[in-house]
Amino acid sequence: MNRLLHIIASPRGSLSRTLTLSASFLEEIKKKHPRLIIDELDLYTEALPDMFSETVSGKYVLLEGKSIPVELKPRWKEIETHINRFMAANIILLSTPMWNFGMPYRLKHYFDVIIQPRHLFYYGEKGVEGLARGKSIFVVSTRGGDYSANSPIRSCDHLEPHLRVIFDFIGVPDPVFYNSEPMDTGGEELCRELLNKGLEQVKKLVPELL
Ligand SMILES: Cc1cc2nc3c(=O)[nH]c(=O)nc-3n(C[C@H](O)[C@H](O)[C@H](O)COP(=O)(O)O)c2cc1C
Repeated sequence: MNRLLHIIASPRGSLSRTLTLSASFLEEIKKKHPRLIIDELDLYTEALPDMFSETVSGKYVLLEGKSIPVELKPRWKEIETHINRFMAANIILLSTPMWNFGMPYRLKHYFDVIIQPRHLFYYGEKGVEGLARGKSIFVVSTRGGDYSANSPIRSCDHLEPHLRVIFDFIGVPDPVFYNSEPMDTGGEELCRELLNKGLEQVKKLVPELL
């Protein structure tokens, strides 16, 4: 059964440009694949476990090839719930704005929670092996400025390169991006134009076959 996890990394609800664009993607994918199950994960309303000393120690336990000790299990249950939700999906739609040249803090927090050894990656004899292989990942992103190919501030985009490294690390080397920019620095009319164009463009990312 095809299952899509929609990770929402903008807190702006109906005002979010990013969510406006990804809604068009979702509408199209539902049309093409009516039996698709959609799980929505709003990173601003969903509880994410703090990664304090005790919780982080579990990561090192796993790296050493041992099991999570009994006293850590209640805290790790929350982490494993998030990991299982991510791993249960064969399609990931990530809706994220750029914040301070990179990803919003709740999205980084989420990755710090779920990217755990022997769950999402494995250090084997051949080096790192990603364990999320086979997933299709789509990223819809909006940015206030313009970081596209010929822009003088292209190198300030630490969002797309960071996400690419993360997804490659967990075994997905080919995520598909749609970045809409500049949403703020070009004025309201350009913003509207970009949104109208984006609503059509993101539909084209939807695959015929899942
Ligand atoms: C906290 C914060 C930080 C931001 N930092 C940047 C930035 O570094 N570069 C940029 O181009 N836009 C930045 N923006 C603008 C957003 O990326 C832009 O408005 C985007 O379209 C917002 O997406 P949303 O409507 O889906 O929330 C920032 C916005 C916020 C709220």
